[in-house]
Amino acid sequence: MILLSTSDTDLALAAAALHKGQLVGIPTETVYGLGANARDPLALARVFSAKERPTFDPLIIHVAKTADADEVAIMDTPHARTMAAAFWPGPLTMVLPKRNGVPDLATSGLPTVAVRCPAHPIALRIIELAGIPVAAPSANPFGRLSPTSAEHVARQLGDRIDYIVDGGPCLIGVESTVLDLSMDPPLILRPGGLSFERIAALLPSVQIHDRATNSPRAPGQLPSHYAPVCPLRLVEGGHLPDVQPRGDAAAVCFGDKSAQALKRLGIFKIVIDLSPNGDPVEAAARLFAVLHELDAQSYDQLWAERLPDAGIGRAVNDRLFKASQKQDC
Ligand code: TXA
Ligand code: MG
Repeated sequence: MILLSTSDTDLALAAAALHKGQLVGIPTETVYGLGANARDPLALARVFSAKERPTFDPLIIHVAKTADADEVAIMDTPHARTMAAAFWPGPLTMVLPKRNGVPDLATSGLPTVAVRCPAHPIALRIIELAGIPVAAPSANPFGRLSPTSAEHVARQLGDRIDYIVDGGPCLIGVESTVLDLSMDPPLILRPGGLSFERIAALLPSVQIHDRATNSPRAPGQLPSHYAPVCPLRLVEGGHLPDVQPRGDAAAVCFGDKSAQALKRLGIFKIVIDLSPNGDPVEAAARLFAVLHELDAQSYDQLWAERLPDAGIGRAVNDRLFKASQKQDC
């Protein structure tokens, strides 16, 4: 793997690499993506192989502008243009009926395709220069922690991909919100960087997929995902001070009050506060970096506490819940 900067020369190199079917780690405002030419089935096959991702889990196709989304998806689906006008470029992925010619590997053979226009100048520039739609799952091995820095990508996938463009840390820190518009009512399949509240303000009929009552509609909704190697326990309701950690345990909490209480108890080897001011946006931005760092330190257990279930807090809680569902711990 070769690490690239954001210079014009390096971005041109990254775009050319994508064009000829190579794999490029790309910064976006949510997480780093593993980019590949969405029109090239061989390049897509390389993505699945590098990530060890099952081919039944479809990819998101990234475009530089709404007009380019028309080439892969039927944008004249109810609400699609309204949503694109309001939230693109941005952390919104729309699931729409797909156009002929999108390789089956990108959509796992589904009649729908996931499409997004990212709000990151470097991602947009690379896609534009490449002149192709770019399929980009998060640049991590399947089921593992998502990357929010070039270093996270290098550590997890460095020996399996061609280039990484280092665009610094991701500002949002959790993946895009996946909104399925191919059905009525529209359904949020994955909470993410764009809040339910902002979508509902424009689309009052929108619902959130409820994992307790609905079966998974997309493999990204499989219960175990985003997992650190170290077992993670989520405190559902209740508080971290009520738990009884085993061995050397680390705690991830939200807000100064909680952090102080935990430190006083002295039951955790380390206490990390995702946001001392209780700001869920800051907590989301730091989430994966904190989990990567703790995971590298080989604690026996990680314990984490939920955020209030609103705004981007829902996306953080979703990632923590899925990280806590690993079977082998
Ligand atoms: O923020 C993001 O969305 C990042 C950056 C790189 O853009 N990408 C990302 O991709 O998170 P990935 O592959 O890790 O997650 C894609 C999600 C999965 O949950 C997948 O199941 C869902 O989108 N998905 C893709 N195509 C779909 C479809 N046709 N129907 C339903 N869900 C779909
Ligand atoms: Mg992912």
